[in-house]
Formats: sequence, structure tokens, C-alpha cells
Amino acid sequence: MNLAAGSSDFEKQQYEALKAAYRLFGHGDLMKFWLFENHRCIYKWAHYFPIYEKWFEAYRGKEIVFVEVGVQNGGSIQMWRNYFGGNAKIVGIDINPACKQFEDATQNIFVEIGSQDDPNFWAAFKEKYPRVDILLDDGGHFSNQQILTFREMFPHIKDGGLYACEDCHTSYQARFNGGLKKSDTFIEFTKNLIDELNAFHTNGTLPPTYNTLNMGGIYFYDSIVVVEKKKIPFKPFDLPVGDFAEVNAE
Ligand SMILES: C[S@@+](CC[C@H](N)C(=O)[O-])C[C@H]1O[C@@H](n2cnc3c(N)ncnc32)[C@H](O)[C@@H]1O
Repeated sequence: MNLAAGSSDFEKQQYEALKAAYRLFGHGDLMKFWLFENHRCIYKWAHYFPIYEKWFEAYRGKEIVFVEVGVQNGGSIQMWRNYFGGNAKIVGIDINPACKQFEDATQNIFVEIGSQDDPNFWAAFKEKYPRVDILLDDGGHFSNQQILTFREMFPHIKDGGLYACEDCHTSYQARFNGGLKKSDTFIEFTKNLIDELNAFHTNGTLPPTYNTLNMGGIYFYDSIVVVEKKKIPFKPFDLPVGDFAEVNAE
């Protein structure tokens, strides 16, 4: 990471930002690829990288299908290819037909063109890709798109997989129809998922849903929500194990 002599103010600012990103957010393989390798543009918030590393590490080298909504310049699908290794199938989705140019079957990289807010697109997608291990939503960023994508695709994620949506800060931004505690935003939608996660404890007020029976946990970060796909095969139960102490004698 060197700054060329005679760089513009913008380039100098960008150089300082990159140095800060590296200093602040660790230097896992994804961030190294982002900052130091040659690739097409990857447009990400710097603080996402340790979150990606935490969640995606376990899937490296495995035969997985990784889907990212939002291809744009095609740089992030190169990064995922590099990170997950040759056994992974990388599938990008974008509304922009020009993104098809980034498909490279020889690299096990596929690009599907369509809109994430179109249920017909998802129906065809699911038929073509019967298995998806991880989905990362970095598409249009409007809450209605993020919600529809979750509803369509969370049930399709393989047990043991992950669903992640990034740039959720748009839930707070008026230009994305957002606003603090506005009921139709993705963030409010995911807050309601917390109730579904705990449905067994609501005494029947909220009957367990598909999500109750298939979410291992929901994890909130600045602008990212990660949901673990995990079958819950029985009603949660507790029981006392071990010797009782005097404090319990009545
Ligand atoms: C933030 S960019 C993706 C950046 C890329 N993942 C990266 O890390 O460099 C968002 C992309 O989502 C695409 N997009 C916007 N609306 C969409 C929609 N309704 N369905 C699918 N893709 C959409 C845009 O065309 C754009 O390429």
C-alpha cells in the first residue's frame, strides 16, 4: 500500500482511510485481499471484514454454495472465490444485465440477472440452485427488498448455513424509506424475528413459526444482521442437574 508521488487530495484521503481500515479492523485474509490484491472494485464498509471473517471462516475449503445479491463491478465475487477456495460455488445476483460479464464457469463463478424484489425470479433461482449454504444480501438496500429476500431465501438456506444482510443502516435513512423505529423497515422486521426466536416462551401468545424452528440465533452488528440456519428439533427444556444446596431447602 504505497502512495504515489504527486497524488491528488482525494487519493491521499483514500490512502489514509485504507491505512485506518487495516489498523482498526485486523488483517484477516479478506481484508488483505481487499486492500492488497489486484481485483475489480469491491465496495464494502471497512468494519464488515472482521464480521465476515468470524462467520465465514468455518466454511472455507468446503463444498458450499455462496450467494451474494449485488455484483456491481464484480470485485466481491472475486474476493469470495479467493476466500472460500476452489470447492465453493460462488453465485452473484444483480438487476443489471451488464454484470453477466463477470460469470466465469471455469472459476465456478455464476451470475444470475434479476431483481431481488421479484418472487418469480426467486422461484426460478431456487429451482436452478436447489442448495444454498450462505446468502449475503448486498443488493438494492431498500427494506422491502431485504425483507422479501429474507422471506424467499431463508427457508431455502441449507441447515447449518447462514443468512446475512448488510447495509441495514438504510433502515434509518429517509432516502431508503427508512426512519428510527419505522415499522416497515428491515431492522424492525429483524427485531420481530427475536420474538419468533423466543416463541416457545410466550405461553402460546406467539405460536412457534418456521423461523422459530429453524433459527439458531440472530446476531446484530452495526449495519449487518446474521441469522444462523439451524433446525431446532425439540421444544427447549431446562432441568436441575447436580446436588441441591441448603438455599433450596423449604
Ligand atoms: C452495493 S452494490 C454491490 C457491491 C458489491 N457486492 C461489492 O461488494 O462490491 C449493489 C448492487 O445491487 C444491484 N441491485 C440494485 N437493486 C437490485 C435489485 N432489485 N435486485 C438485484 N440487484 C440489485 C445494483 O445493480 C448494484 O450492482
